[in-house]
Amino acid sequence: METKLTKLLGIKYPIIQGAMAYISESALVSAVCNAGGTGVIGSGGRGADWVRSEIIKTRQLTDKPFGVNVVLKDPERDDIIAAICETKVAFVTMGAGNPGPYFKILKDAGIKTIPVVPNVRLAKRVEESGADAIIVEGTESGGHIGLMTTMALLTNVIPQVKIPVIAAGGIADGRGIAAALLMGAAGVQMGSRFLLTDECQIHPNVKDKIIASTDTDTDVTGYSTGMMVRGLRNDFTKEFLKLERTGASVEALNELATGRNRLSAIDGDTKNGSVQVGQSLNVLTEIKTVQEVINELMEQTVTTLESANALLGS
Ligand SMILES: Cc1cc2nc3c(=O)[nH]c(=O)nc-3n(C[C@H](O)[C@H](O)[C@H](O)COP(=O)(O)O)c2cc1C
Repeated sequence: METKLTKLLGIKYPIIQGAMAYISESALVSAVCNAGGTGVIGSGGRGADWVRSEIIKTRQLTDKPFGVNVVLKDPERDDIIAAICETKVAFVTMGAGNPGPYFKILKDAGIKTIPVVPNVRLAKRVEESGADAIIVEGTESGGHIGLMTTMALLTNVIPQVKIPVIAAGGIADGRGIAAALLMGAAGVQMGSRFLLTDECQIHPNVKDKIIASTDTDTDVTGYSTGMMVRGLRNDFTKEFLKLERTGASVEALNELATGRNRLSAIDGDTKNGSVQVGQSLNVLTEIKTVQEVINELMEQTVTTLESANALLGS
């Protein structure tokens, strides 16, 4: 399949495995690359040394292009960007802050820049600053989210920019990929679907909990602070929302949330940890290899695109 995204990154299929802090590292990223998509190493909560060593490990597992995500509010972001420039990955995705200062540094190092944007205004601004593509991420996503839906973002943003637009949020099967491509997206970024793969190193308890969950089982914490996070409803989200309703300070809420990603992803505590996942849960029923997931996604995408013509009648 050829789209503006496959051409930009030199990949076979227009599928990016989105960064997932504490989860997307060399094993998952290289597996997605070897299966024809591309993967993104999540640098959130790690540090420049970890990022450097994970890039080296990924290179040992694949000769295909891959990216690194930089969380722009990370206090170590400058060191992480320096490590990325030194090791020269194919592209960087950036979110949760102002990407402005980093376009030139990354471009000069020959690295493509793909910021995550939540609205038309920022989409236009990063295009002017030299972004190579953008990811629009709808509120259906797992992890940190904005307020707009994926459908509204694609509708509003695509006609306003010339650079490739990548759709993210709630896309968990080939029907979603086909829909995004028909809307004019150049490809998709998916996170939740890749949690249920053999190569994903997240704790098995989390995989089981996701399989047992359905559409209405997520909560969004952090509306009062503007730091919204979508994850499965559990003792942690209930406690957070209860504290939020009391009008608690940002500091008190942050203190309650600190360490919860790690607690779930690494320690497997799905009651007290933050189990971040998107809303398209009913199709997440089985753990497969990354290759099986990508093959299935592409078969569904092609079947859906082929069947679209029949809607026109004869
Ligand atoms: C567990 C989890 C952790 C995530 N962590 C990050 C992150 O560190 N940085 C980032 O830019 N996006 C992060 N995301 C968002 C994903 O990269 C991707 O855009 C999102 O999962 C797409 O929506 P979906 O979950 O419906 O597929 C995370 C998503 C999940 C599910």
